[in-house]
Amino acid sequence: MDLSIIGSGYVGLVSGACFAEVGHTVVCVDNDLKKVESLQAGHIPIYEPGLEELVQRNVASGRMRFTNSIADGVDHSEVVFIAVPTPPQADGSVDLSYIERVAREISGVLKPGQYRVVVDKSTVPVKTGDKVSETIKRYGSRGAEFDVVSNPEFLREGCAVADLMHPDRIVIGSKSDRALAIMKKLYEPFMAPILVTDINSAELIKHAANSFLALKISYINAVSAICDASGADIEKVADGIGMDRRIGRNFLNAGLGYGGSCFPKDLAAFIAISEDLGVPFTLLKEVQRINSSQRERFLKGLRDTLWILRDKKIAVWGLTFKPDTDDIRCSVAIDFIQDLLKEGAHVTAYDPKGMENVAKFGLIPGAKMAASPLEAAQGAEALIIATEWHEFGMVDLAHLKEAMHSPLVFDGRNLLDPATMRRMGFHYRSIGRPEGQKS
Ligand code: UDX
Repeated sequence: MDLSIIGSGYVGLVSGACFAEVGHTVVCVDNDLKKVESLQAGHIPIYEPGLEELVQRNVASGRMRFTNSIADGVDHSEVVFIAVPTPPQADGSVDLSYIERVAREISGVLKPGQYRVVVDKSTVPVKTGDKVSETIKRYGSRGAEFDVVSNPEFLREGCAVADLMHPDRIVIGSKSDRALAIMKKLYEPFMAPILVTDINSAELIKHAANSFLALKISYINAVSAICDASGADIEKVADGIGMDRRIGRNFLNAGLGYGGSCFPKDLAAFIAISEDLGVPFTLLKEVQRINSSQRERFLKGLRDTLWILRDKKIAVWGLTFKPDTDDIRCSVAIDFIQDLLKEGAHVTAYDPKGMENVAKFGLIPGAKMAASPLEAAQGAEALIIATEWHEFGMVDLAHLKEAMHSPLVFDGRNLLDPATMRRMGFHYRSIGRPEGQKS
């Protein structure tokens, strides 16, 4: 099938590559001409495992191409996806101006008698589909035939390609049987369960799913505080809870809290949506509060040990909001480093993929970057593990101890084994786990 995707950000780019991979012909549209040229030449602006090869292969085969013209995209496709950013505004509500602009631009190029399915893939508040539909009708030429469909995307960064190729479910919100039949055909090669809903429900599913996952994380983090206070072990507690199939073990990993470009934004949006609808979802405010208190609690633990942080040399492993990505947006690691710098500590950090973005965005100008985990730890009075990159678990502990000024390790992601750390002579603190107890 022929389709176009407007917006070549995370969701647009990965979706485009995966649709091309299963045999569709995809035109990816972006208004940034430099980006378009660079993508067409096979250069991917983000680090996402497997994505570069996928794009290069499909561009070479002619199933995927890039353009900055919406008219070009819409003209060549039966299905037009909207995958543009929906950033947060100061009050947490969603800025829908990119969506509105794209809807107007699509309306301007729709030709009478040329039916198109306009699919919203961006994360949007419930009832946005109706607005998109009204906008296209208002600005479009008479006789333009189209239907608007909601098709939220659930991919995770770091495993986006795998998530897209093998989704748990595909949600399609539509009130048109014609559009639905086209969408089902489009997704047939993925052989995944399809849930058909009305447009409002599909839109709501995305915010409700992300908020629920964030709630799960805050729940286990709140339990981890009780473990710290009582001497129980959060790993065991999470295993015990998670073995109940009604709950499940996923997303019950205690740590410094959730970050990234989705959870913080979507939670704030869902709160704003609920308030706007007159049914405030106050539980979600507590989820946010627990998330930030987890970082404060960890910082307090560090202060309790080091006493004054001013002029202390502190190493931090991890800058990205999670492993296997170079994304540092809303990263707890960055927030934590900012806390340390504010208190006058000297921070040296290392991250396998995030350091380029740190330099680019200048979020922590006071921190030094190291070339390896051991170099970051050189002479440090404490080491913080802020992101659970696999390579941090592989570092030779004897060398680490030798490199550090004093062997204090604060593991904010429960990456290392407490018993091993204790045996190796470290003073080791993690989240909700008794010191020295085997996990
Ligand atoms: C999330 C959703 O999972 C995805 O479905 C949606 O499309 C976009 O938002 P993403 O932000 O890429 O994906 O990452 P995810 O793996 O969900 O992790 C989000 C944050 O939660 C990270 O900071 C991670 O470290 C944290 N997390 C996750 C925990 O602290 N504990 C866990 O058990 C799981």
